[in-house]
Amino acid sequence: MIDQSYRIGDRIFENRLVFQPMESRSCLADGSPSELTARKYMKAAESGAGTVWFEACAVCPEGRTGDTQMMLTENSAGAFSELLAKMKKASGGRQIYILQLTHSGRQSAEPIIAYHNALYEAKKPVPPGCVATGGYLGSLPALYAKSARLAAEVGFDGVDVKSCHGYLLQELLSAYSREDDYGGCFENRTRLLLDCVRAVRSAIPSDMIVASRLGVSDVVPYPYGFGTDADGNIDYAEPDALISELIRAGVGLINVTVGNPYYNPHVNRPFRKGGYIPPEGPRTGLQRLITVQNHIKEKFPSLPLVGSGMSYYGKDIIEKSQELLRDGVCDLVGFGRMWLAYPEIYRDHLSKAQTRPKYCVTCSRCTELMRGGMPSGCAVYDEYYKELYAKMNENGR
Ligand SMILES: Cc1cc2nc3c(=O)[nH]c(=O)nc-3n(C[C@H](O)[C@H](O)[C@H](O)COP(=O)(O)O)c2cc1C
Repeated sequence: MIDQSYRIGDRIFENRLVFQPMESRSCLADGSPSELTARKYMKAAESGAGTVWFEACAVCPEGRTGDTQMMLTENSAGAFSELLAKMKKASGGRQIYILQLTHSGRQSAEPIIAYHNALYEAKKPVPPGCVATGGYLGSLPALYAKSARLAAEVGFDGVDVKSCHGYLLQELLSAYSREDDYGGCFENRTRLLLDCVRAVRSAIPSDMIVASRLGVSDVVPYPYGFGTDADGNIDYAEPDALISELIRAGVGLINVTVGNPYYNPHVNRPFRKGGYIPPEGPRTGLQRLITVQNHIKEKFPSLPLVGSGMSYYGKDIIEKSQELLRDGVCDLVGFGRMWLAYPEIYRDHLSKAQTRPKYCVTCSRCTELMRGGMPSGCAVYDEYYKELYAKMNENGR
C-alpha cells in the first residue's frame, strides 16, 4: 500500500509516504534555508518519500518564533527556488512539495495571542498588551496570500494553511472570550482561518493544492481549547463543521494532528523518553490519533487525509503504515521524527537493505534542541546534532 501512487487533481503522489513538517530553526535571518536546512531537505529529496511537507514558514517577521524560523519573502525567494530545483533534480522530479504557512502567535519571539488562556499561562505567563487586535488579524489573509503566491513562483506544489499546535490561527478557534469579529460564536472564531484559506486559494494556480495541518482538537478542557468538552475529551461537533467549511473554502488535503505540544506533548507525538512524565501511556495517544482519523474518514470519505504520530511505532513503522493505509484510516502516512532519525528508511524498505537501521527512539532530543534555541535534528544518529546536544547540556541551556 505505502508504495502505491495517489492522485489529488493533477498532482501525482509517487507513493503514500509524507515527510512531515519538522521545524528546524536553522534558517538565516532573512528566512531563507541555510546550508544546514538544505542538508536536511536534500536528504528528504534523496529519500524516495513521495511528499516533503516543508516546515513552519512564517508569513511575517513578527510571526516568527525567532530569527532562525523559515520565512518566504521576495528577499529569500531565490534561495527557496535554488533548493527546490536541487531537490527536484535529486528526486528525479517525482516528489510533491508542500509549504506550511504559519503565524507563530503565542510562540512568536514577542508573543501575539488570540486571548489570555489561564491554562497555558499558568506555565508560561504572557504580559498584558499581547492580544492581537481585530485590525491586525484582518491584515493577515493578504500576508498568507502573498506567501502562497511566492510559494507558487518558487516551485511548490501546494501550500498548507497551518491551524494546529496552539499557533495563532488555531488559538483563535477557542477564542470564546473575544468580543470582536474574531471571537465568541463559531463563525467568528473560524473567520480568520477560513479567510486565509480563501485568500490563499485565490492567490495560486487552481492546480496547486491547498492543504491544512489541522489540530482537530486541542485535547484540553473546554473553554481552554478547541474541539473538546469540559473533561478534555474530543467533541467533534465543531471540528466537523469546520472541516466542511474548509472544504468549501478550497482545502483539498488535511494533515491530521491533535493537542498542543507546549502543553500536552504526548498527545501529538507519543514518546518513550523526555523530561516530562505523560499522564497517559503512549499507546493511548496513538489510538486517539487513529480514532480521530477514522472519524474524519467516516464523515468525509473523499477528503484526502495524512495520518500523523507514527514514529513511536519504531521498527514496526512501515508495517503499521501498511495496516492504516489498507484499513482506509488515512490516504497518506506522515513520518515526523522518523524522518530526522532515519531519512533512508523508505529506500531501505524498497531495497530490503536495512544495513544500518536507525529507527527513531522518540527520546525528545530533537524537541529539546528546538526549545533550547538550537537547530533541531536527530541527536541520536546524526553526529552534528549529537555534538550540538552535548554542547547545549554542557552549557546548561
Ligand atoms: C522537533 C519538532 C519540530 C516540529 N515542527 C513542526 C512544524 O514545523 N509543523 C508542524 O505542523 N508540526 C511540527 N512538528 C510535529 C510533527 O510534524 C509531527 O506531527 C509529530 O512529531 C508526530 O509525528 P511523529 O510521531 O512521526 O514524530 C514538530 C515536531 C517536532 C518533534
